This record gives sequence, structure tokens and C-alpha cells, in this order.
Amino acid sequence: MADRYLRLTGTGPGRFVARRLGLPLPTPLRRWSAGTPELPGPVLRLTAGEPAPAPAPAPTGEPYGGVVVDATALAEPADLHGLHATLHPLARSLAPCGRIVLLGARPQDGGLAHAATHQALEGFTRSLGKEIGRGGTVNLLRLAPGAVPGSALDFLLSPRSAYVSGQVVEVGPAPEVPAAAGPRTALVTGAARGIGAAVAETLVRGGADVVLLDVPQAGEALAAVAARLGGRALTLDITADDAGERLAAALPDGLDVLVHNAGITRDRKLANMPAERFDTVVDVNLGAVLRTTAALLKAGTLRDHGRIVGTASIAGIAGNVGQTNYAASKAGIIGWVRALAADGEVRGRGITANAVAPGFIETAMTAAVPVVVREAGRRMNSLGQGGLPVDVAETVGWLADAASGGVNGQVVRVCGQSLLGA
Ligand SMILES: NC(=O)c1ccc[n+]([C@@H]2O[C@H](COP(=O)([O-])OP(=O)(O)OC[C@H]3O[C@@H](n4cnc5c(N)ncnc54)[C@H](O)[C@@H]3O)[C@@H](O)[C@H]2O)c1
Repeated sequence: MADRYLRLTGTGPGRFVARRLGLPLPTPLRRWSAGTPELPGPVLRLTAGEPAPAPAPAPTGEPYGGVVVDATALAEPADLHGLHATLHPLARSLAPCGRIVLLGARPQDGGLAHAATHQALEGFTRSLGKEIGRGGTVNLLRLAPGAVPGSALDFLLSPRSAYVSGQVVEVGPAPEVPAAAGPRTALVTGAARGIGAAVAETLVRGGADVVLLDVPQAGEALAAVAARLGGRALTLDITADDAGERLAAALPDGLDVLVHNAGITRDRKLANMPAERFDTVVDVNLGAVLRTTAALLKAGTLRDHGRIVGTASIAGIAGNVGQTNYAASKAGIIGWVRALAADGEVRGRGITANAVAPGFIETAMTAAVPVVVREAGRRMNSLGQGGLPVDVAETVGWLADAASGGVNGQVVRVCGQSLLGA
């Protein structure tokens, strides 16, 4: 469903009227494309406390497209002054759709003052994300001892992270990944349409051989997407008792990337919800995810340094009226990836488990939402608009990257910094 308001305010007359009426003016986001792979200006790298070169434009005369502030050395609350000193002169002069990334330490890796100071970075990040405007994003990477920002910083400093803002992501030391002999193999569930089809497309773009899975009823659409992308279609209901074994049989050469995207909603308030409706959602969105992953691990299908990406939702963080079933299943995904990431055996094999938590994304699922709720969902975030399937797909692509071994047990919201669950 098209966002007509965003389209209208993208025109001169539309912007004029919206401004006169005091209505929000969302900035059309600059997303990755082969023609615009980079940020809209150079990236400035500073240490907290280091004054920004003034005035703000880069030596080339363009505004900065991104600013990285290394705050890892902050030790006590008074040091937070350094954030003000560095970013105050820049806050108004970043290019539209620019990026600010703070690098901090994990609060638990020092004493009391260190913990307070590095937790403070989170509040700073989330507030600046709400202030920055003009399609800009602000995120925080917390580096564990010995970790480097790596693929996480690359992602946050690129147009691929257009709808990711206000996020705090922890990065640990990345185990070395041996060079792959050939293309990696990826499986994406629920790939016949929406976010799953976009994830498959992004993984194909990254060079993977992609197997696209969906229910038999969606077989025709699935075949069309698979043919368009040059992937392989596999029709299977992931809740089938033998789904895991059938997947293992369909992937005899192994699997590197497992993306659990298939999901359903069956909304109704708990007082009106039949048990069957409740159980179906929990089984598709959560039960089947656990069973099929366990089967693929047991069969040895998922290779060392594999990447598992689950799909949560901001409903699983904030809760939502009519979604006790859905929110329970999506919160369950968060608990599951965290536990899986901490599992000694899985960890020891270099396999990571993370989740994306989409906010309001323009898909068939959200097109079915009543119009007032839909409009509220679109605007109630720092970027003033809904995300697109590709925004979630780009985030999955980053988490699934062989270079993302230091990102493990993380839940990354792709929600434009939604006010829900913030
Ligand atoms: N669209 C959003 O705003 C949004 C927000 C938060 C989370 N999500 C999550 O993102 C994922 C994708 O959402 P979407 O909007 O693209 O949904 P969608 O309904 O457009 O697509 C979901 C796909 O999953 C498939 N599927 C459902 N049950 C299945 C089963 N048992 N076996 C195999 N495939 C099955 C469907 O046939 C469909 O093709 C879901 O997990 C959803 O909960 C979406």
C-alpha cells in the first residue's frame, strides 16, 4: 500500500501546504541502489571531546554524510561533556539522510562510573535520533574488549541502514571465517512475497545461492519470485511434523544462512480469541522456528560459521492490543536467539543467531490493518514514515554476512525508531 502522504509532501505544493498546516514533513529516505551505494557526503571520524572542524561542511564543500564519534575511552559522567563538544557544532549541518554512529564500551566492562557513563550513551543516542530530522539516523555500537566495529559500522554508515535508527548493538570479537570455496547457500522462509522476497533478493545480490520456501498455496507466487531471482523454490509448510527433516533432505550440500521470516497474524483480544487461533500463531512464528532449526543443527546441515536470523517484531517488545498470540511469539524469538547465541556448542562452531524486529513495514500484512491504525503506525517514528521490505532485507543481509561474526545474540529493530516499545 503506497504512502500517499509521503508522496504528496515530496512535491513542492504538498510541502508548502503541509508546512502551513504544521503537519509532519517526512524526508524521503535515501536507500541503497547500484547508482547510490554511498552516503550523501564524506564521513568525519572524531574522538569524543575532539572539536569538530568548524564550520561544519567538509573540505570539499559538501555537508558531511556521516559522523563517527569514538566514545570508548569515556570513563566517568563528566566525560560526557565530550559528546556535546564534538557533536553540538555538527548537529544541524549533517546532509539529509546522514548518519551519526557512536562507538561506546559495554557498561559491564568497568567499574560503577564506567557503567553509568556507557549506559548514558544509550539515552544520548536515542534522544539525538529523535532530534536529528531530515531522514538522519543515530545509532550506538557497544564494543566488547578486543572487538572492532567491522561490518556493523560499515552497515550503519551506508544507505542500507536507511530505516535503522536509535539502535544499540553490541559487537564482540569476530572469529576468523575461512574463505568460502564457493557461493554461500541461504534459505529464506516465507519468501513468496513481502519481506521474505526482499530478503531473498538482497541475499542473491550479495552472491548467495538462495532457496526460497513458502507454503504450497503460495507455490505460484513463490515460483515467480524464485525464477526472477535465479533461486530455487521449495514449497513446504514449516509447521509440518517432518519439516526439519525435509529441509535437511532438500539441502544435502549444507546451509550457511538460515532466515526465519515466515510469519502470520490472527489478531483478536484475548477475551475473544479461540485457543486454535492463539496456538496457530505461536506455532508458525515460534514453535516451527525452534523445531526446524534444531533439526538442521542435528543433521549437520547448518555449517560452521553459519548465520541464523529470526524475525521478531516491535509488537514483541512493546505488546499490542489484539496481539497476545503474535507478540508472545515474537518476544519468544528474542529469547530464543539470545539463548542460542549463548549456547556453547553453537558459539563454538562460529554460528551466530540474531533477530530483526521490524516496525511498520509497507507489506500485504500492514495493508490489511485498519486505515487509522495504519496511518498512526507510519508516522509514529523518528523518520515519520513506514519502512519498506528492503529495509528489513538489508539488515538481514548485514547480520547474515560472513563478516558479521562479532554480532551475536542481538535484536536489531528496523522501525525508524518507532515510539512503540522505545
Ligand atoms: N510487515 C510488517 O510491518 C512487519 C512488522 C513486524 C514483523 N513482521 C514480520 O516479518 C515477517 C514477514 O512479514 P510480511 O509482512 O512480509 O508478511 P507476509 O504475510 O507478506 O508474508 C509472510 C509469508 O510467510 C508465508 N508463511 C506463512 N505461514 C507459513 C508456513 N507455515 N510455512 C511457510 N511459509 C509460511 C506466507 O505464505 C507469506 O508468503 C513475518 O514474520 C512478520 O511477522 C512484519
